[in-house]
Amino acid sequence: MKTALWKNRFPPMKAGRDMTVSVAFDLKPYLDEKRALVDESLKVYIEQTTPGAGGRISEAMAYSLMAGGKRLRPILCLAACEAVGGNCRLALPAAGALEMIHTYSLVHDDLPAMDNDDMRRGRPTCHKAFDEATAVLAGDALLTSAFHILSKADTRLSPEVQMEVLGVVSRASGAMGMIEGQMRDILAEGHPLTLDALKALHALKTGALIGASVESGAVVGGASQHERHALLTYAEKIGLAFQVVDDILNVEGDPLVMGKGVGTDEALNKATYPALMGLEPSRRYAQTLTDEAISALFPFAEQAAPLEALAQYVLTRKR
Ligand code: IPE
Ligand code: IPE
Ligand code: MG
Ligand code: MG
Repeated sequence: MKTALWKNRFPPMKAGRDMTVSVAFDLKPYLDEKRALVDESLKVYIEQTTPGAGGRISEAMAYSLMAGGKRLRPILCLAACEAVGGNCRLALPAAGALEMIHTYSLVHDDLPAMDNDDMRRGRPTCHKAFDEATAVLAGDALLTSAFHILSKADTRLSPEVQMEVLGVVSRASGAMGMIEGQMRDILAEGHPLTLDALKALHALKTGALIGASVESGAVVGGASQHERHALLTYAEKIGLAFQVVDDILNVEGDPLVMGKGVGTDEALNKATYPALMGLEPSRRYAQTLTDEAISALFPFAEQAAPLEALAQYVLTRKR
């Protein structure tokens, strides 16, 4: 894992005074620690929202959920909470719910009616390992269980904060966010889009849930409006960068490292950045978006070191 360099930047107080201090931030132990927290919670959430281990539906849910995803969305949620001074354990229900929603979107995205993919997270897709009906139901159950987790009264949070998180996550997951993006993605197959239309598609398909991850963490952490706004700009930029990199990896990634097929976008005539503008301009665009994301973290100084490192990770990831 690359070591990200965090430049501890303060607004210049006196002209000519250099306030820049470099502090190394090692992302790997951070990711390991947060992934362990998330995975532990997810196991509990599956148990709490299914009739019991060994049943077919809980088995299919766990099959896709516990298959070794990167956990980017839940970790962004925890990191955003900490960036505004919150206790990340209070954000675990939101983080877990976001990962359940993300996983449901992958299970359905892989179905023959959609992208018709055979491999996901290094193993056969849910409908291949079980069957299509089970995959549809496992996706439905992951989505509804996520909202069950979010709606459970949590005495550590005010009802207002819990309602706010429910609003943020439901808006991003549904027809105002990810679902509209998925619809546009399907409709665009074989129809070249303008760059603006592609950007809007990506912002909905992938950006919305990444935005909700950062925003819900910020809400739980008690962010001010100003902080929330800055974090939303950060999220908007890394959300887009994430999907641009996903498109690039679909062209030149290693399927063994990625745990899913490559070349599939071209085969389905998908609207992607590499298809529209070529690989090198796509790489440059992802870099620009990452730079812009990191600039948005300026107000948080070193508390946002993990978010900065996560932005670099989104850009340089190989899976
Ligand atoms: C893949 O998301 C699907 C997209 C939104 C492009 P991730 O790359 O975050 O997948 P996992 O969670 O690590 O499997
Ligand atoms: C995955 O999108 C699902 C969502 C973003 C909701 P893609 O179809 O672009 O991603 P992969 O390549 O299957 O992971
Ligand atoms: Mg798709
Ligand atoms: Mg797909």
